[in-house]
Amino acid sequence: MRKITVITCLLALLCIPSMKAQKFEGLALTPPMGWNSWNKFACNIDETIIRGIADVMVETGLRDAGYIYLNIDDCWHGERDSLGFIQADPVKFPSGIKALADYVHSKGLKLGIYSDAGRKTCGGRPGSFGHEYQDALQYAKWGIDYLKYDWCETQNINPIGAYNLMRDALHAAGRPILFSMCEWGNSKPWTWAKNTGHLWRTTGDITNCFDCVSRHPGWVSWGTMQILDMQDTLRKYAGPGHWNDPDMLEVGNGLTDNQNRAHFTMWSMIAAPLILGNDLRNMTPATKEVILNKEVIAINQDPLGVQGLKFLAADSLEYWLKPLENDEWAFCILNRSKETVINTTIDWQKFNLYDDVSDKSTAFDSKVYNIRNLWTKKEEGNTASLKKVTIPAQDVVLYRLNVKPKTGKK
Ligand code: GLA
Repeated sequence: MRKITVITCLLALLCIPSMKAQKFEGLALTPPMGWNSWNKFACNIDETIIRGIADVMVETGLRDAGYIYLNIDDCWHGERDSLGFIQADPVKFPSGIKALADYVHSKGLKLGIYSDAGRKTCGGRPGSFGHEYQDALQYAKWGIDYLKYDWCETQNINPIGAYNLMRDALHAAGRPILFSMCEWGNSKPWTWAKNTGHLWRTTGDITNCFDCVSRHPGWVSWGTMQILDMQDTLRKYAGPGHWNDPDMLEVGNGLTDNQNRAHFTMWSMIAAPLILGNDLRNMTPATKEVILNKEVIAINQDPLGVQGLKFLAADSLEYWLKPLENDEWAFCILNRSKETVINTTIDWQKFNLYDDVSDKSTAFDSKVYNIRNLWTKKEEGNTASLKKVTIPAQDVVLYRLNVKPKTGKK
């Protein structure tokens, strides 16, 4: 008998390494792309809107451009049933989440959902505290593919424990679900969450303003430029499978066309998740053009997965570089001035630099790159000579610098 006990104990010990807590690997090798309901609809969501968004993601080509996650944010919840399993709001989602997931999947998309580590969500719906394993099971049963996990009502809860608990619950439920952590950067998740989530919010909420701070009773929301400034020191923490999340996009939510272009470009340069937040069923051609620019998306989705670097700021201009695969670079100048159009000359030789995060050098002194303008979609010479450039107010120029031999005429 004792022998059997000893053998059982040894076997259990041998099994421990394979039972190691883990997140699902391989789900976010490039920054996740999709749409989320919060920025436009807040709590005013229902299944008709979500189905309509699914339809339009296919019809407009967004799905085929890479936006595959359709994420329901706060306020989809009803009550827990008698066994404690969460149910959808029966008025807003009368067909239930499983039927919605089936519909979304039939369109070749994936469905995301939202919960909170605390007792209640930020919108006052039931949180997952004390129900983590049950909620994970329910999501897996419904066919959920993505979970955004918020941080309201979490007094006296330890973030590392709370997020690891939900990660383990998701893993135990067995369905690969991408785990998006939303604790606003309070506990510096970039320093501890690489093996916990696939992305972590780095800041408080974004608002639909290019350059402003919006104060509310007890909290603050941030314009795109304010959020951008908070990412500066974090680039070394991001990479394939684990991304800094500067919050969802506000493109198409009231910014000017220039601002939309600048916002989308900067989120692409910093390898941010590209989660759209506008009403895709009603967008201007200009908005569509921004979010569907495949060459800009390719900068964001570059397999190297390196977050871009601001290497120079002068007056209202910021100069950014992002290393890409095959020794290419994305190069961008952002003009933060509200009114002033700026004409300047790029002297590539001043931008010879070594990036220790990617271990790559621009090497303008030994290499000539061809310049492709990703917004005008034109070839614009090469880096062998000085380049004159005009940057409109609150706008960008964005180039892909490549070393491929030129084909066709000069
Ligand atoms: C928090 C999050 C937002 C959104 C709302 C929903 O503020 O940061 O992104 O999910 O909650 O209530």
